[in-house]
Amino acid sequence: MRPLLFLALAAQLFAAEKVKPDVLHRPSPIPDRIILTWSADPSTTQSVTWRTDKSVAEACAEIAPSTAGPQFLKLAQRIAARTEALKSESYEALYHAVEFTGLKPDTPYLYRVGDGANWSEWNQFRTASADPRAPLEFIYVGDAQNDIWAMWSRVIRQSLLDAPRARFIVHAGDLVNRSARDEEWGEWFMAPGWIIRSIPSLPTPGNHEYPSKGALNANWKPQFTLPGNGVPGLEETNYYIDIHGLRLISLNSNEKQDEQAAWLDQLLAANPHPWVICAFHHPIFSTARGRDNKRLRETWQPVFDRHAVDMVLTGHDHTYGRTNVMSGAPPVKSKSGTVYVVSVSGPKMYRHDKARVHARIAEDTQLFQVIRIAGGRLSYEARTAAGELFDAFDLVKQKNRPNRLVPKPGLSPPSPRGQAGSPASTSQ
Ligand SMILES: [Fe+2]
Repeated sequence: MRPLLFLALAAQLFAAEKVKPDVLHRPSPIPDRIILTWSADPSTTQSVTWRTDKSVAEACAEIAPSTAGPQFLKLAQRIAARTEALKSESYEALYHAVEFTGLKPDTPYLYRVGDGANWSEWNQFRTASADPRAPLEFIYVGDAQNDIWAMWSRVIRQSLLDAPRARFIVHAGDLVNRSARDEEWGEWFMAPGWIIRSIPSLPTPGNHEYPSKGALNANWKPQFTLPGNGVPGLEETNYYIDIHGLRLISLNSNEKQDEQAAWLDQLLAANPHPWVICAFHHPIFSTARGRDNKRLRETWQPVFDRHAVDMVLTGHDHTYGRTNVMSGAPPVKSKSGTVYVVSVSGPKMYRHDKARVHARIAEDTQLFQVIRIAGGRLSYEARTAAGELFDAFDLVKQKNRPNRLVPKPGLSPPSPRGQAGSPASTSQ
């Protein structure tokens, strides 16, 4: 046999075999897909959800106040979990959830999840402060969606390096591409690693979490433990939390838009907090001509204007677009004005062809955003996957007037297409 032919045959014989996704993401008795979320007050409660295989009979969690050494082990309290089964295309799993309650505000705790024999590591989190004036830092990301393990991991990990004191992470929909494929959710939980075990996530569903017949993907509710304080029927997708003087609202842009407009109007009429940010998937100021969500804009923007919502965080368009402070047409003359953001964190990219409404745009760029609030000032940063600062400004509260937007000096100028003029209704 010729040496080259022999080598080719040998290479074929010993070629690495790709591990099949349904093997890689199969559940076991060891807890995985562990994620912190909130279902109630973030200063006194903390929810955790995780997955095992069907062999686990009695899942539970343990929690203790954090100590400098191992002394906390003596303080641990055990809490039984609520468990539900979920059958995917490839296997059946159990999802377990515990809500820790009666916690002290602004205090570090340790927890682990398991079944008495098999345990996760002890993970640390910190409860929110009960003081509405406490400063706040959080992360917001647009669609992760594609090649999540391979190419989203670096973005979500870099975000924490730039915002190490982040109190939570907002995921603005399309977390995965084919939500009926459990393996994609497996990638979504693997990519951030321990980050989502220590920092709560606040996800809002995108159209890819509504794969067929207008129904929310079956994974969503078992794997996320979120508030049920929104429109009836939209539990854990339309909800709000109050944290450090911010009312953070998840709207579900996939269904019941009219009902949510009425709910939001009522919710914001009685809002005691100085800052309001809404997160949902479909932008009401799209970055592409063919992707306009006119009906959604007509339904929700009057409510944002009426209540001076400070920022709206969205995804869906796989580009970056950020407006100045703006209100609807004709401009509302009250203390109104909102900054609208479209962003993308995963590697799927579209074109930007509607720059007129956006002050800053990007294509072919994976981004994450860091938002910090201290008193009457909100500081916003959009950073690229490589960690470079791409967009930044401050929003400053003004009495009975729209927020003043102060751009950060020294940023590289946006592309000429991004300079295509400010919208008529912009006020800065
Ligand atoms: Fe998407």
